[in-house]
Amino acid sequence: MNVVPRDLMTETAISSADFRGAMRHLTGGVSVITAGRGKDITGMTVTSVTSLSVEPPTLLVSINRDASSFPLIRRHGAFGVNILNADQLDVAERFAGKGGLKGADRFKGAEWVTAVSGVPLLVGALSAFDCEVEEIVERHSHGIVIGRVRGINSSMRTAALAYWHGQYVAVDRDEDAATLADVSVPARSRRGV
Ligand SMILES: Cc1cc2nc3c(=O)[nH]c(=O)nc-3n(C[C@H](O)[C@H](O)[C@H](O)COP(=O)(O)O)c2cc1C
Repeated sequence: MNVVPRDLMTETAISSADFRGAMRHLTGGVSVITAGRGKDITGMTVTSVTSLSVEPPTLLVSINRDASSFPLIRRHGAFGVNILNADQLDVAERFAGKGGLKGADRFKGAEWVTAVSGVPLLVGALSAFDCEVEEIVERHSHGIVIGRVRGINSSMRTAALAYWHGQYVAVDRDEDAATLADVSVPARSRRGV
């Protein structure tokens, strides 16, 4: 059963600055969404990708309806999700609009393959997903795009690119895992959690 959105009270005491400031604490894995096919392609950097369900394999991403990717995703009914590795910081910056690059120009300087659906997938991404649009829920400034995963490419890379407090951070499974385990697992055990 779908829950019908309620008419919430429109006045709120929460400012955009307060909300943005609070959300800076949320560490996000950095991905690049790709859309379109042939020369009519574009894409964007996102942190809003999340897994929706395993069976069937679906994920969702929240995309600004003014972003150039949004109409292409809707028109073609497909999109790519590329989870960036730590060496792909330049890709993240290009697809976030740095340098004013648009559309197909953002793809230059990296290697891409074409997925079955026609969208470009990034070579060397930690994982890359070919997704068919299942549903788009338009809400406020964004569209929640639900994608059924139709294909997966994976690489052997072990370092992820994350975004935290307004900056990119590399998290290496081999180098950082021991440190992270050191600060988390023993502390939890000590507290008897
Ligand atoms: C780290 C990071 C994460 C982002 N996450 C999102 C996101 O989840 N959804 C979104 O709509 N825009 C997100 N953006 C903004 C888009 O990448 C940016 O607006 C992009 O330029 C939109 O593409 P366009 O210029 O082709 O419209 C993010 C930007 C950065 C730097």
